[in-house]
Amino acid sequence: VKVVKSAAIIILVLLVAAQFYRPAKNFPQTPMTAGMDSLYPIPPEIEATFRVACYDCHTDSTRYPWYSEIQPVGWWLNNHIRDGKRHLNFSEFASYRLRRQYGKFDDIITEVSEGGMPLPSYLIAHNDARLTQEQRDRIVAWAKAMKDTMKAHYPLDSLVRKNPPPSPPR
Ligand code: HEC
Repeated sequence: VKVVKSAAIIILVLLVAAQFYRPAKNFPQTPMTAGMDSLYPIPPEIEATFRVACYDCHTDSTRYPWYSEIQPVGWWLNNHIRDGKRHLNFSEFASYRLRRQYGKFDDIITEVSEGGMPLPSYLIAHNDARLTQEQRDRIVAWAKAMKDTMKAHYPLDSLVRKNPPPSPPR
């Protein structure tokens, strides 16, 4: 009993101490200028879906839930955000090389049609982020259209070239 008690006290002390180590919040440091929509128009209904289902982990600004203030939950969320942004950041999308942009549209198609995104753990606390088949179809159709736009404006090998000219499509 004594051992259990001391273990409980140690865990409690660690938890209290952990509260002082807060990850930096994900908010834009500078005004956003390279957002995806500066190059690729996002229809309002798709933007609304992205806002509730994707932007928390894939932009420079996250809507933090109250429990993000509790460690280690905050650390765990922070890792998802960092990891998510490294793979795809809508806030920086326009500054990606063309080839990367093109590839990311492909990745969006794959993730959204196969149901890989939003991350299942996100859905526990974000019921409104559960995508309907119609929402998925819309996003996929839109991403395909964006790829077609790119192909119409750039020769395919420029979507592979290293330093593309910065001129936007349309
Ligand atoms: C809870 C955070 C979270 C949410 C919400 C989320 N993602 Fe992700 N996403 C991640 C993480 C973390 C990764 C990288 C690890 C992985 O692939 O599982 C990722 C990876 C991706 C990738 C793969 C990029 C690559 O390089 O292969 C795409 C595409 C993507 N997400 C799109 C979306 C879309 C579209 C939505 C909304 C419908 C969304 N994500 C919602 C966290 C999230």
